[in-house]
Amino acid sequence: MRYLARQIFRGALALSIVSLLIYLELPVRASSENIIRHPKNFWALKGQRLFNETPRFLKEYNHSSLSCSSCHLRGGQKPFGASLIGVYNRYPRYQARAGRVVTLPERINGCFVRSLSGKPLPLKGNEMKAFMAYLQWLSKDVPAGKKAPGFGIKKIKGIFKTNLSRGKTLYAVRCARCHGRNGEGVFRGDGRALVPPVWGKKSFNIGAGMARLSVAAAFIKWNMPRWQGGSLSSQQSYDIADYLIHQPRPDFAGKNKDWPKGGKPADARY
Ligand code: HEC
Ligand code: HEC
Repeated sequence: MRYLARQIFRGALALSIVSLLIYLELPVRASSENIIRHPKNFWALKGQRLFNETPRFLKEYNHSSLSCSSCHLRGGQKPFGASLIGVYNRYPRYQARAGRVVTLPERINGCFVRSLSGKPLPLKGNEMKAFMAYLQWLSKDVPAGKKAPGFGIKKIKGIFKTNLSRGKTLYAVRCARCHGRNGEGVFRGDGRALVPPVWGKKSFNIGAGMARLSVAAAFIKWNMPRWQGGSLSSQQSYDIADYLIHQPRPDFAGKNKDWPKGGKPADARY
């Protein structure tokens, strides 16, 4: 009898762990489509770890609590979750923000100094080599000149008049249970973020793409609340995004050098 009860208990426990993992899509799917463990994939595997656990491995360069995968969801593989599938073959390319052609390592550093509110990685170092190998692996099935379906973040069509107090209420109802009342996120005992902060000192800075209203609204609409992407209307996404980007966050020192040749989007924060 005791034996049977124990077996049933074990079965139930295993079942609930598995269903929890399926519900969270994590960490099983975080590194979904797995890179084959083979010496030839050494750098891509290393890059994947840096991508998914950036604060843990690159403290010196990342001054936020965010990982690349906090925004480039599921390791950069989620359609319209700022997917980076195919990005490797899109560079070098002209970027209006820089006013010149930028290489992929330079673009990665764009996210380091803005989205991670940190410092640029050495362009020729091993960390950059690892990121490049991972992005190349992500892009392996996309021919040059083609855009993979689901690449980036799908834009919301139309113009929306936002309302900050509506945004504040919606944030409290739909987002605060995970990201916290003060946007601070949720941390494990060892300091790793289970849910990344959305504002404050440890968040992305005002120079980040995510600090722009149209980008944040689109990201939120398709991806948030996490695991319920698509449940907010465009108007609600804009209201929440406007509230979120108006909360305090780090300044971006290089902001005066952006868009040197014009083309500054109307929703840039400076
Ligand atoms: C705070 C969210 C956030 C974080 C964290 C973040 N990114 Fe990004 N990243 C974005 C957004 C948003 C864009 C698209 C910008 C736009 O379209 O305005 C982007 C664009 C990019 C691009 C260019 C994509 C293209 O369309 O050409 C690359 C490459 C990239 N990120 C790599 C990284 C890497 C590597 C990291 C970690 C070191 C990282 N990002 C961290 C939000 C983030
Ligand atoms: C169920 C928990 C949960 C809820 C609810 C939720 N999020 Fe998130 N959010 C996450 C997680 C976890 C991540 C990091 C991505 C990952 O690990 O998959 C994230 C990432 C983000 C990011 C990009 C990273 C960052 O920290 O800036 C933004 C912006 C964001 N969420 C905004 C929102 C907004 C706005 C809402 C409400 C509409 C919301 N989230 C609701 C869990 C949640």
